[in-house]
Amino acid sequence: MTDRKDSSLKLHTKFAGCDIRWYKSLDSTNNKAKELAGEDAPHGLLVAADRQTAGKGRIGKRWESPEGRSVYMSLLLRPDLKPVSASMLTLVAALAVAAALREVGNTECFIKWPNDIVINKKKVCGILTEMDSRQNRLNFVVVGIGINVNEKKFPDAIREKATSLLLATGQRTARNRVIQAVMEHFEIYYEKFMKFKSMETLIGEYNEQLINCGRQVKIMERARTFTGTALGIDSSGALQVEMTDGIIQSVSSGEVSVRGLYDYI
Ligand code: BTN
Repeated sequence: MTDRKDSSLKLHTKFAGCDIRWYKSLDSTNNKAKELAGEDAPHGLLVAADRQTAGKGRIGKRWESPEGRSVYMSLLLRPDLKPVSASMLTLVAALAVAAALREVGNTECFIKWPNDIVINKKKVCGILTEMDSRQNRLNFVVVGIGINVNEKKFPDAIREKATSLLLATGQRTARNRVIQAVMEHFEIYYEKFMKFKSMETLIGEYNEQLINCGRQVKIMERARTFTGTALGIDSSGALQVEMTDGIIQSVSSGEVSVRGLYDYI
């Protein structure tokens, strides 16, 4: 396993990605970031890998992580936040990735609540946020971001719903450029978020990009499944869903899966 700093990666940020550890191969960049967090690694440390052997997706799923064509990275954060607020950082990261992909790919890009970035109705990025807390004190948060950059083919199981920046735009993009843009946008959104420690100032921008907005969605939580119309997020980042009887349910991210009634969107 190599541990090298990528010298061609130039970040104009105050903290996000100022310290980068780049590995040839890791089981999961989230696992490595958590390990380094336990060794007092600083706020803003970015762990990236050329491939992951056990990339983790949400709700116990795997994240396909073949060598060298995509971005697998995890940002370590030590925010002054209550543990209950940490999941909003997924939404902050989603805004940053969407802005970054628009910038580097010159393409339309949407957010599928809570953690998918979508181009041409297909998933190009997933975000997995993990945290460590004790007695209502947040120790650290790891925001793991997987972006399909130059991938040409996907396994059969996800082919219908996955895309890459290359497939969407017809152009290869340097992974460094994508990482740089995500870190720069993340820092801006993070500062806005931390002002009120809520999505308050970001709701409008988020809902404008929310591909589920106004659509029929199926919500699958651990204990219940229901359908309704997605209205947008509130200041806590919860998705507001209007049921057929007019009652509005607030759905928090976590162990929840959101689908269109008939397909992925
Ligand atoms: C999802 O959509 O299910 C979330 C996928 C998150 C994948 C990224 S890749 C980098 C980081 N390391 C992991 O093991 N997972 C996240």
